[in-house]
Amino acid sequence: MDTFAFIIHPIDPKRDVSRKFPLLGRVLNERQIDFFSTFFPPVFISEIEGITSQATGKEIKGWFIACPYTPRRMLELPERTVYRKIIQTGHMAEKLGAQILGLGAFTSVVGDAGVTIANALEVPVTTGDSYTVTVAVESIREASRVMEIPLGGATAAVVGATGAIGRVCAELLAEDVERLYLVGRRQEALEELRDRLRGRARAELIVSTSMDVLAHAQLILTVTSAIHDVIRPEHLQPGSVVCDVARPRDVSAMVAAARDDILVIDGGMVDVPGSVDFHFNFGFPPGKAYACMAETIALALEGRFEDYTLGKHLTRERVDEIGAMAKKHGFRLSGFRSFEREVTPQHIEIVRRNAQHARSLRMVYS
Ligand SMILES: NC(=O)c1ccc[n+]([C@@H]2O[C@H](COP(=O)([O-])OP(=O)(O)OC[C@H]3O[C@@H](n4cnc5c(N)ncnc54)[C@H](OP(=O)(O)O)[C@@H]3O)[C@@H](O)[C@H]2O)c1
Repeated sequence: MDTFAFIIHPIDPKRDVSRKFPLLGRVLNERQIDFFSTFFPPVFISEIEGITSQATGKEIKGWFIACPYTPRRMLELPERTVYRKIIQTGHMAEKLGAQILGLGAFTSVVGDAGVTIANALEVPVTTGDSYTVTVAVESIREASRVMEIPLGGATAAVVGATGAIGRVCAELLAEDVERLYLVGRRQEALEELRDRLRGRARAELIVSTSMDVLAHAQLILTVTSAIHDVIRPEHLQPGSVVCDVARPRDVSAMVAAARDDILVIDGGMVDVPGSVDFHFNFGFPPGKAYACMAETIALALEGRFEDYTLGKHLTRERVDEIGAMAKKHGFRLSGFRSFEREVTPQHIEIVRRNAQHARSLRMVYS
């Protein structure tokens, strides 16, 4: 049977460590977990079974293995120390017999996005970023449909537009919408991106280093590698949709608490074909996975045991190819979730009603 492995790591230290080690999660505080994680070895998490291709009926098996570092630790420690721990985790995948290895969340963000790691390992590696782009853009298109925001006339924004995932998301959305804000930290890099997209884009492209421009956007796709939230309630206009692909999240939990006129959706969740059992709760309902996991699984179902998405420069070809491959094997965009809860049609209706109300109040008071 063909096999894969996928590296996960704690994102919210107390919550995620408790999922595997309830006692440690209870007694250690966040800073202590951050500190001690430096000395933890890689951890075997679980065996994954029941994944079956809808196209071919092929069944595969996989494993979750964990690199113990938190995102904060990965940013604080020297890059080579972080690489060493991820490579050590990769060796565990090799010993298990994995034929392809996926890098989850920050293990794919660090340094050169998988290149050094892949060079040090025998097993082929993928970051999962190409399929993450496909799913993020599909999610925002679907959200615009349910919120009745006509895509062709919409103003959208990509936050983290200079990043590996953000750049290609911006390229795709620039073909869909009327106006697109490219938001990031570095003006020069943003201008370079704008100039590269200009010839092909349908949208008017505007660059900004300020989150304040989000007040003009109806559709926002956010995918930074910030370790703290960057989007807060005051940045957003009533009725807007925010698709948060980043892990840790970019959208402040205060948005959910304070703004019932905005639809925030978790980006990058898909249904996995077959009756999958992950034997581990990573915070999703049964049968659903992150898009980056799905890329690794789709490649294993396809028998494509080769380095696939590596480095910070993703290509449209790979994004299109993995989108078609995943679709063929039966991966589907999942229903929306928001801050780990299901988004129901009633929830969407309430957001739309509250947005109309908020807009009419603004007209009265402006
Ligand atoms: N949901 C999924 O399935 C999935 C899959 C893969 C990755 N991810 C997540 O996607 C995110 C981005 O990954 P990536 O590989 O595209 O990362 P990346 O290439 O490092 O790009 C990150 C982007 O975020 C910007 N940024 C970093 N810190 C920031 C801050 N404090 N404020 C504002 N912008 C900031 C960077 O700006 P500069 O260019 O100025 O540095 C860059 O544009 C990560 O959170 C990762 O965990 C999710």
